[in-house]
This record gives sequence, C-alpha cells and structure tokens, in this order.
Amino acid sequence: MSEKLIAPSVLAADFANLQRDVEMINNSDADWFHIDIMDGVFVPNISFGMPVLRDIVKHATKTIDVHLMIVDPDRYIQTFADLGSNILTVHYEACTHLHRTLQAIKAAGMKAGVALNPHTSVQLLEDVIQDLDMVCLMSVNPGFGGQSFIENTYTKVRDLKEMITRKNAATLIEIDGGVTNKNAKQLVDAGADVLVAGSYVFKASDPVTTVKELRAVVN
Ligand code: DX5
Ligand code: ZN
Repeated sequence: MSEKLIAPSVLAADFANLQRDVEMINNSDADWFHIDIMDGVFVPNISFGMPVLRDIVKHATKTIDVHLMIVDPDRYIQTFADLGSNILTVHYEACTHLHRTLQAIKAAGMKAGVALNPHTSVQLLEDVIQDLDMVCLMSVNPGFGGQSFIENTYTKVRDLKEMITRKNAATLIEIDGGVTNKNAKQLVDAGADVLVAGSYVFKASDPVTTVKELRAVVN
C-alpha cells in the first residue's frame, strides 16, 4: 500500500465542541477518526463510551477506527459494530483467546486490529498475522494523550513490516502515540501505513493546516 493514512485521535478534541471538531476533521485531509475507549482497568484512565461515540458517528463522514483499551473486549464487539465502527482494535494483552476475538470482530462486519503495548514483542503475532487487518503499535504507554514518543518503535515497525512481507499478509501498520511531523517521515520509511495523531493535531492553532502538513511529510 503506498498511500499513507492520517487518523486524528478524538481524545484530544474539545469535548464541549465535539461536533465542531468532528466537522473540522471531516473538512480536513485526514483519512480516519481514531477513537480511544478506556475503561479505567486496562489503562489508568477513563475516556468516553458508547453515547459519545454514537454522537461522533452521527457527524463523522470518514472511517471510524476504534481502539479499545479495555479488559475482556469480547463483551462489546457487537455493540461497537452496531454503533458504526469500521475497524475494531483490541489489545493483545487483554485477550486470552485472541484468534477467537478476531474472528468475532470480522463476523460482526468490521476490520480486525490488534494493539501492542510498548513492551510487547511483534514476534508474538507470527501465528496470527494473516488474520489481522491492522496492527497498532503503541508508541507510548496507553492511557493518555500528549506523551512523548518511544524511540524503540522504529525497530518494531521494521520487524513487523518484515514479518508482514514474509508471510505475504495485507496487514496495515498503525502507530499510536506521540506522532508529530518530527517522527512521521521516519515511521513511514520504516513501514508504517497509518499515523494516529491526537495532541499534535487538535492542540495546534490551525489543525486543518497541521493535518495537511503531516500528509505532505508522509506521502
Ligand atoms: C493513548 C491513545 C492515543 C492517544 C494519542 O492511549 O491510544 O490514541 O490519543 O495521543 P497523542 O497523539 O497526543 O499522543
Ligand atoms: Zn489510540
């Protein structure tokens, strides 16, 4: 895949002006909405849940990429499908029967992703890579926006890309956490396909221009 995708993370939006911010992303060069769902158990933070996602989907005109940072995600697969998620990503560390979970996500009509925490090796995906539409490499410890990028991510992207090529899989590589125009080029050069950016986009004085600049760096 040659075209790189930009996925602003709504976690960094202004929740009192959510419709405004969703429409701003609709009208930008961004490709996806990245939606962070945190349960206060898998990660030490609670973000937002179903009612908020429902209202985001009402206004969003782009792909809805949901990142579940919750324990036992199997309980909510159908719920997120019904809410309009296009891609559902679960954490490797939260799934005892990952293969079963991935099949359930696909059976519910969504693309299936797995996220890896910074300490989790990409090698653990050898036996499931062909079943994965996307791997989300966490480049910060999940739970909060605005953290700094962990440099070891570049090595993980290269190793994962090598595995995807060797296994002849069509899996996308998504990078999540601390993405800016400083690391974006190096990430896509290493093999990344999708760049999530929260604070870098929403806290910018001109988010639409920031998305445009990010795209110019990677494509
Ligand atoms: C972190 C979330 C990220 C976060 C990224 O737990 O999964 O998606 O919103 O935010 P930034 O880009 O600010 O690091
Ligand atoms: Zn995320």
